[in-house]
Amino acid sequence: MRIAFFNTKPYDQRSFTEINTDHSHELTFFEPRLTPETASLASGFPAVCVFINDELGEETLRAIATTGTKLIALRCAGFNNVDLNVAKQLSITVVRVPAYSPYAVAEHAVGLIMTLNRKLYRAYNRVRDDNFSLDGLLGFDLHGKTVGIVGTGKIGQCFAQIMNGFGCKLLAYDVRPNPACVDIGVDYVELPILLTRSDIISLHCPLLPSTHHLINADSLQHVRPGAMLINTSRGGLIDTTAVIEAIKAGRVGYFGIDVYEREGGLLFEGLSDTVIQADAFRLLQAFSNVVITAHQAFFTKEALSNIAETTLSNINDIEAGNPCANEVKLA
Ligand code: NAI
Repeated sequence: MRIAFFNTKPYDQRSFTEINTDHSHELTFFEPRLTPETASLASGFPAVCVFINDELGEETLRAIATTGTKLIALRCAGFNNVDLNVAKQLSITVVRVPAYSPYAVAEHAVGLIMTLNRKLYRAYNRVRDDNFSLDGLLGFDLHGKTVGIVGTGKIGQCFAQIMNGFGCKLLAYDVRPNPACVDIGVDYVELPILLTRSDIISLHCPLLPSTHHLINADSLQHVRPGAMLINTSRGGLIDTTAVIEAIKAGRVGYFGIDVYEREGGLLFEGLSDTVIQADAFRLLQAFSNVVITAHQAFFTKEALSNIAETTLSNINDIEAGNPCANEVKLA
């Protein structure tokens, strides 16, 4: 099938081109995001392949449908950027990649914990400057600490297994407890109890209306003073303004994030020569106990290969008229 890829970087082009040797689709890579303004690039392509920050609202969908697009292949798990009602009206099929590497995200969360705890960001810069002082590098043993996991699906389960290996006590909050986590000794409790008892809190639940600002000024009141808060899930789970106040008050002692509430204008771009306008983001960057990475938790070789393999297999299924397990249907 002829597929127009939007919003691509060199690493997307490499992984899809390599995996496509087994699939033989016709791939065309565009750098711009898919928006109403760039929709004309999809003209004549029966399929478009898009990512989390492409805009597939009504205007874009009507534009691409008019010029022959019948299939949207999301190369990500989330589909909140697609207007599914309009896609259905226009008979456009939507497929996605529900899971590509839970290990990648869970391991990145652990990386943030280690970086914050042992202050590796500070140690790295110090030693480069021939400063071998240990002042300000004091960490704590993870062994024996209590880790609270919010959301124990695929990623939360991997995270629980890793932290179990460190010898941590594991608490979790989830609307659907995971038997594999119970088997390794995870104790399910209500969210306020998890927040009160945990030395480290890591978020692994999806962003839904019910989880928006799950961590807010009220829930932060439950947090054990000096606790570590990690978010590799979605920025909107945390009220940024409230967390900034909690960091200033010493209630949150360490804050590690791979996702940011208003990351839209920052995501995946080199902005080194730009004056960043996001004041809250700038303030977070200024705190010595905050580490921010740029939505890279998924970014491993294995995950990119899995994304390309699943996306192209989804397109094979739809092209052949076979049922596709990864089709996104209206609830
Ligand atoms: P999953 O669907 O396997 O697990 C999500 C878990 O959250 C489920 O157990 C579910 O019951 C639970 N949950 C749902 N509503 C909840 C609530 N109100 N309170 C507590 N728990 C709730 O999803 P998976 O694959 O583990 O991914 C988790 C999240 O990780 C995704 O939603 C996504 O936001 C994020 N993610 C981040 C990436 C990154 O690069 N930073 C990459 C991939 C995913």
